[in-house]
Amino acid sequence: MADTKYETHSHDVIVIGAGGAGLRAAIEASAMGVSVGLVCKSLLGKAHTVMAEGGVAAALGNVEPKDNWKVHFRDTMKGGRYLNQWRMAQLHAMEAPDRVNELEEWGALFDRTKDGRILQRNFGGHKYPRLAHVGDRTGLEMIRTLQQHGIHLGITVYMECTITRLLGDKDRVCGAFGYWREHGKFVMFESKAIVLATGGIGRAFKINSNSWECTGDGQGLAYLLGAELLDSEFMQFHPTGMVWPPSVRGTLITEGVRGEGGTLRNKDGKRIMFDYIPKLYANETADSEEEADRWLKESTSGVTSKAKRTPDLLPRDIVARAIHSEVKAGRGSPHGGVFLDIHSRRTPEDIKKKLPAMYHQFIQLGDVDITKEPMEVGPTAHYTMGGIRVDPDTQETRVKGLFAAGECAGGMHGSNRLGGNSLSDLLVFGRIAGLHAAKFAKATGAKSVDAAQVETYAKEALEPFNREEGTNPFAIHEDLMNVMQTHVGIMRNEEDLTKGLKELERLKEAASRVKISGNRHYNTGWHECIDLRNMLIVSEAMAKSALARKESRGGHARDDYPEMIDSFAKVNHVCREGGNGMELEAVPLPDVPEEIKKVLEEDK
Ligand code: FUM
Repeated sequence: MADTKYETHSHDVIVIGAGGAGLRAAIEASAMGVSVGLVCKSLLGKAHTVMAEGGVAAALGNVEPKDNWKVHFRDTMKGGRYLNQWRMAQLHAMEAPDRVNELEEWGALFDRTKDGRILQRNFGGHKYPRLAHVGDRTGLEMIRTLQQHGIHLGITVYMECTITRLLGDKDRVCGAFGYWREHGKFVMFESKAIVLATGGIGRAFKINSNSWECTGDGQGLAYLLGAELLDSEFMQFHPTGMVWPPSVRGTLITEGVRGEGGTLRNKDGKRIMFDYIPKLYANETADSEEEADRWLKESTSGVTSKAKRTPDLLPRDIVARAIHSEVKAGRGSPHGGVFLDIHSRRTPEDIKKKLPAMYHQFIQLGDVDITKEPMEVGPTAHYTMGGIRVDPDTQETRVKGLFAAGECAGGMHGSNRLGGNSLSDLLVFGRIAGLHAAKFAKATGAKSVDAAQVETYAKEALEPFNREEGTNPFAIHEDLMNVMQTHVGIMRNEEDLTKGLKELERLKEAASRVKISGNRHYNTGWHECIDLRNMLIVSEAMAKSALARKESRGGHARDDYPEMIDSFAKVNHVCREGGNGMELEAVPLPDVPEEIKKVLEEDK
């Protein structure tokens, strides 16, 4: 197969990925008056953003007037165990309220307080009820709103298109090359600036909450062009995925269930989280059921509670590990999770009103009526805190003209993301990336595309068709999911990680000889080859960075180094292509200015 012909499209800015971050970036760039092309692997509207169900975090102060950006900033930094890029966390907390209000102006229909303002609910690690929500379908409403708004701005949308390579070099991006998934013909996009907004890498894990698109595409593409990956070791395992039936294992159960009063119990009926309150959160967490229940009751009815918060709403890394420990100790539910009980705390009417998607999900997929019975839940790979290294104020990578936003970018969440901060992250940083990509495009002339580079990438993309023999890409993906789950999972150690890295080398070698049959028309094996390459890059960065981080912090836990260690609190890990493979550098965290230190300390 040697047909390397391609069609060409030219735009000032190309956005790759049409989830919340991509849409928000495209809207902003378009509003700046430049021509924008939005390229997505799936159909418009089918973004993984819809899986952030429980709400978008923003210090609106509608339910708790004491809330403000400083409290949100502190909660976010503490949740990330202070490894966050402080400037990103600051911008995020300051700008999130405007981004949510703007969504409302664009037509998003949030749930309401009694006096008609946007209602906010509790989530883990957020001091006050902070999550603006639409029942348990917040991400869906956001995508609907952004899409409708964007479509009227004249953004050109290219759907079902896989980008295989970025064009240019480590100093400057000038386009993207790929193929139409439907018929396999090549396409080249020339552009002055590119925004990557392709989401995370959950599909590298066997048990995950992610949709098929989440294969680390932006991270892989950026790395191959010369950008860097930051803090790749930090993977979020959401505490509550479905564990039964096996066909839907990993499917998300929103944290909103616990936000509405749900509690976690083991097989003996004991509420588990009181045994897992870490020192860092001890001062603010209730240590008795009575106090936890008082807090829940008061704070869900709009009263400022003097009680301490329920431990069921500790940050996700803590809750996920608690469930893991209960199961390991033999106190789990019949199918290897624990029980999440909302039915004994809320009326069936409340549950159906506040958590309609959960109600239907369990009836339809698990034959469980959550208004009468508990759910069985367990950790599921959910979110990639690590990602492409960007400048906090512009979202530009070290490659000129290349920007990244949303889950594929790193730095904002440190070692652990608080629930709801992903939806606000993608709005805030999607806007910033779109703005600066457009500014860059306006200020900079086009760099011409090198036809020889395009030809090379076309031939490279076709290689798997031309091999006489080789490995099936689906088999390698299956292997990868097992390797990552077993060796780079929720609890890690030196031996597992070393084995994992060896296994990844074997899989990389197999992937370089991958073979596919058939033609280019909707060839799922071909799609899998590209996904695999990207997943292997990000997985290697994750395992390497995890091996180097000899401590436990946030979404990275090691049983051979169970504590947080001061020297590691001062460094971020950066992975880059070093000529001879992937190299890792520990770089010092940016200095925190005095006024920001004061904000962080105000709470103490
Ligand atoms: O639990 C959830 O609804 C997920 C939200 C998030 O990941 O931010």
